[in-house]
Order: sequence, then structure tokens, then C-alpha cells
Amino acid sequence: MSYPNKLNENNITSLDKRHYVRSMFNSIYRTYDLLNHLLSLGVDIYWRKKSLSNVNLDQNSVCLDLAAGTGDYGLEVHKKFKSFVIGYDIAENSLLLFKKKIKNKKLDKKRFLLINGEAENISLKDSSVDLVTIAFGIRNFYDSQKAVHEIFRILKVNGTLLILEFGLPKNPIIRKLYKLYFEKILPLIGRMISKSEFAYKYLPESVRLFEQQKDIISEIIVAGFRDIKVKPMTFGIVNLYEAKKVSEEYYYNDDKNLFRKLLT
Ligand SMILES: C[S@@+](CC[C@H](N)C(=O)[O-])C[C@H]1O[C@@H](n2cnc3c(N)ncnc32)[C@H](O)[C@@H]1O
Repeated sequence: MSYPNKLNENNITSLDKRHYVRSMFNSIYRTYDLLNHLLSLGVDIYWRKKSLSNVNLDQNSVCLDLAAGTGDYGLEVHKKFKSFVIGYDIAENSLLLFKKKIKNKKLDKKRFLLINGEAENISLKDSSVDLVTIAFGIRNFYDSQKAVHEIFRILKVNGTLLILEFGLPKNPIIRKLYKLYFEKILPLIGRMISKSEFAYKYLPESVRLFEQQKDIISEIIVAGFRDIKVKPMTFGIVNLYEAKKVSEEYYYNDDKNLFRKLLT
């Protein structure tokens, strides 16, 4: 397939993005974990773990790990709460590695369900899940607003949505240093190890577009979530978004700014 040189939301359709992202993650799955830990110096493990600090689940709870990839977030949830975990991802190759990890760790496979599908159309019943986790996935969705509506639908009342996503540090000096690493050094190492020409160019580009063009908090509010908190981690390299479904009702309003003013 041909890849766009620049992933600009203005010149790429939803369908293109879905196709592009799926092919890319299907092609880099073998080196994904290694590069994740290497390029973040292992801090990604801490981010997933720390994000669960305020969550209370038990072994009967159900967690949907959306954009689960090779499963590290879902596995962390299971390790902490012994709960059921549904791993959901558009790229089937990553889920094969998730399956392998469940086997290698000798975990009870009846506690896991892996589904190859997209966040924009979740094949689960209304109000069926206690926790939805998304780590480094939402910026890749071809329609994040649709996905957040779907998440609201399938969460139970009092259910929680946790989103970990890359951001850019606010401190100008740290931001400059980080951008140098993220935009120049990381794509080189990523290309060498993954052998993918595009994937690690796509990473900083997709984070830049996400920062500039997406207002994820508004999307969460519009979908009906409340009690929204944003917690910067490690100088704001990553943000943790926490949101609650406090009732089945939601009020759809296209004017996101007006809605935001009224509710925060
Ligand atoms: C950067 S990886 C993150 C994987 C994992 N959550 C982690 O923490 O390492 C992003 C994942 O999002 C998946 N993805 C992208 N778009 C998706 C969509 N529309 N629906 C479901 N999964 C999607 C990709 O296939 C990929 O596995």
C-alpha cells in the first residue's frame, strides 16, 4: 500500500487513516514492545501502572483495553485486580502477541477475550464494562469522537475511562530538548530496529497533530462523561485523562466550546 508522506488530517480521509494505521501496526508488531521500552527508557511501564492508582476493581469486574496492541495495559490491569480483560485492537498481529503473553505468563485464559475490531464500532453490549483503558491509542483512531461515544455506551454507570496519551512538555527548555529527541533521534532508532520507513516518523507527527487539532476533553464531555481530570506525567510527556460515566444520560451539543464553558 502507499503511505501518505505527511499524516495531515486535512489531506487524509477517515478510511485512509484506518487503513494506514492498521497496516502500520500490523507490520511493526514484532519490534513494538522492545522499541516501546527502549525509546521511553522503560518509563512506559511506570505510566501504565501509575494510571491505575485511583481505580478500584475486583475479580468480577470487566476491563476493556481498547487499542490493546500487544496487551501490556490489559495485563497490568489483570495483574492488579485479577479482573476479566477484553483486549480490543484493529491490528490482528498485535493481538497474536497479546495471546502469546497470556500463555507464557501461564494466566487463566478464561479471564481474557481478544477481539479484532475498531474502537469506533465496539461489539459489546450497552453498560457491560467497568473500566475502559486506552494507552497511546486514541490519537490513532480515525474517528475519536465516535469511539468516545461508543465507550460511553458500553461502560456501566460509575464506570471509568482512563486514557494515556503523549503530550508535549509545557516547560520551554524541556519541550525543546524533548522535541529534539522525539522528532530527530527517536525516528532514527525506530527505523533502524523496526525496519519501517514510516512508523516512527508517524509517531511524532501524530502527537503533534493530536496536540494541535484534537480537543479530547471536549470530546469526552460531549460524549456524556463527567468528573474529568487531566494529570500530566513526567513533565507532560504523557497525560492521563480520567473520566466517569455518572449516569446513562448525555446531552449532545455540537458547540463544544459552549458545552465546555457550561460544564467545567
Ligand atoms: C501505540 S499502540 C498502543 C498499544 C498498547 N495500548 C500499549 O500501551 O502499548 C496503538 C494501538 O492502537 C491500535 N488502533 C489504532 N486505531 C485503532 C482503532 N480505530 N480501533 C482499535 N485499535 C486501534 C493499533 O492497532 C495499535 O495496536
